[in-house]
Amino acid sequence: MTQMTIRDIIIHPDPRLKAKTDEVSDFDASLKTLADDMLETMYVAPGIGLAAPQVGIMKQMLVMDCIKEDGEAPRPMVLINPSVTWTSEECSTYEEGCLSIPDQYADVERPAEVDVTWQDLNGETQSERFDGLWATCVQHEIDHLNGKLFIDYLKPLKRQMITRKMKKLKRELARA
Ligand code: NI
Repeated sequence: MTQMTIRDIIIHPDPRLKAKTDEVSDFDASLKTLADDMLETMYVAPGIGLAAPQVGIMKQMLVMDCIKEDGEAPRPMVLINPSVTWTSEECSTYEEGCLSIPDQYADVERPAEVDVTWQDLNGETQSERFDGLWATCVQHEIDHLNGKLFIDYLKPLKRQMITRKMKKLKRELARA
C-alpha cells in the first residue's frame, strides 16, 4: 500500500508558475512517488489536470484524468517530457480554469485535436491523439511546463483583474 501525500498547490502569481521546467532524465522511485502524489492532489482538489510546477517541482511532468461521467472508470495519466507533435487546424473553445487560479474561468480557443508524445514512468515513449476536453487539458498542462497560464491568452485587462483577485486571495490565505 502506497502512502500518498497531498501537496500544496501554488497560487498565481508566483515566479515558479512563470518559469520553464527541466527535462526528466531519472526514472526512479521518487518520480513514481511524485506522480502518485500529484494524482492524489489533483483528485482531491478536485481537478482534471495538474503540472509539476504547480506543486513547486520544476520538472517536465503532468498528470491528468478527464473522465467526468459518474460510474465511468477513471483514467489517470502521467506524461513525462511531453511534446505536441501535431495540431489540427480546427479549433475549439472551452471555459478553462486552473487549480493555481481558483474560482476563475474564461473561454480559451485552442486546436481541437493534438498528437502528443511523452515518456511514461518507465521511460518508455508513448503517443496518442487527444480530442475534446482531453485535447484542451493536455495543452493547458503542457503550457504550465513552459511557464504559461491560461490567463495569458486573455485580454490584458481581464488578466490583470484576475491577477489582482489572486493577490487579494493570497493575502487572505496568509492571514488565515
Ligand atoms: Ni492549470
